[in-house]
Amino acid sequence: MDFKLEEEHIILQKEVRKFAQNEIVPIAREFDESGNFPKETIKKMGEMGLMGIEVPPEYGGAGMDTLAYVIVMEEIAAADASHSTIVSVNNSLYNYAIMRYGTEEQKKKFVTPVATGEVSGAYALTEPQSGSDAGNMKTRAVLSEDGEYYILNGRKSWITSGPVAKYFVVFAMTQPELKHRGVTAFIVDGDSEGFIRGKKEPKLGIRASATCEIAFEDVKVPVENRLGEEGQGFKIAMSVLDAGRIGIAAQSVGIARAAYEASVQYAKERHAFGQPIGKFQMIQQKIADMKTRIEAARLLTYQAAWKKEQLKGTNQRYTLEASMAKLFASETAMFVTHQAVQIHGGMGYSKELPIERYFRDAKITEIYEGTSEIQRMVISRLETGLK
Ligand code: CAA
Repeated sequence: MDFKLEEEHIILQKEVRKFAQNEIVPIAREFDESGNFPKETIKKMGEMGLMGIEVPPEYGGAGMDTLAYVIVMEEIAAADASHSTIVSVNNSLYNYAIMRYGTEEQKKKFVTPVATGEVSGAYALTEPQSGSDAGNMKTRAVLSEDGEYYILNGRKSWITSGPVAKYFVVFAMTQPELKHRGVTAFIVDGDSEGFIRGKKEPKLGIRASATCEIAFEDVKVPVENRLGEEGQGFKIAMSVLDAGRIGIAAQSVGIARAAYEASVQYAKERHAFGQPIGKFQMIQQKIADMKTRIEAARLLTYQAAWKKEQLKGTNQRYTLEASMAKLFASETAMFVTHQAVQIHGGMGYSKELPIERYFRDAKITEIYEGTSEIQRMVISRLETGLK
């Protein structure tokens, strides 16, 4: 047991921290306000290998491990959660799905341009009537008579990077009578005829990460773009979310850390009743609880990343570790940012400081990639065996 990071991870952490603090922090507020997609920094991050962290170099990635991925996620999220959301979708939802379940041709054709940052990828599971109940999807995929392509019809909602992505991993029903066992995964080109992007969602937080609804109107998807076998889609969706949830845990740690560091600074600088507010026990208690929870969240996140790495190449699941990390870290982000606003008082509520943005951004971590309620359900089911 060794709690120290290896040299390559320390170097990566330093480099990404420098980049994030110098190039993302100064623009985060502007992008939060405008809600514009930060194209330029995303492109730079692609050039740095951050859009294909775990993708082997032959497919355009950095060829690093899951610990590297969570280190990057924490650093980017500590600068700006919106940027880290875009990183997480490309890396752990899109690339991971195709690297794990795709054919050689699919990896070359669809992972390489995303891993290099040339284009973005997205993951389309949620529908207007099915969020937590993901198996209850209505989007249909029907094989054409000549067997050359599937025809997709339906709607997906809350698609992160939907307005800008080139390629999408899409889940659709091929055999609705089989319920979740009738779901199949596809790789869909966003430029296909009948692929319609809806209006961008106005959001509380992560405002620079673009989100929209997608409609499929007789979209033709070549058979060679099917990901895995027919009927395997639900398991693909769930196992990919296991990877994604580790990324969201790391994002939560990053948001919490930024809010915590600002709070420590403020507790030392801000005076009330003739002394720094950090000398008051009520502030001390907040600082201690914030720090302790962040450390615990990071340890759970690292543990989940380690477990995923240990199980690489096997079919064994790291669902429990991923869900625990996501649950605890996201609730930590919410707790810490809430306390940070309180410590900063009026300044925490002001747009002049990033504290209110951290607070708004933290909320999504308890919702997307499975709400806290879903994580608790997953953890409890795995522990008790009861459904
Ligand atoms: N890995 C592999 N297989 C899994 C799995 C996993 N992690 N979890 C479940 N499965 C398998 C089960 O073994 C079961 O297999 P069989 O058919 O062989 O029995 C099958 O999937 C169905 O599992 P359940 O019976 O547990 O399914 P359920 O419908 O009762 O519940 C759920 C599953 C846990 C609630 C699941 O639907 C879930 O996680 N829901 C939340 C969905 C979610 O996270 N949505 C987020 C949208 S994506 C997003 O947010 C992206 C973004 O924009 C950033």
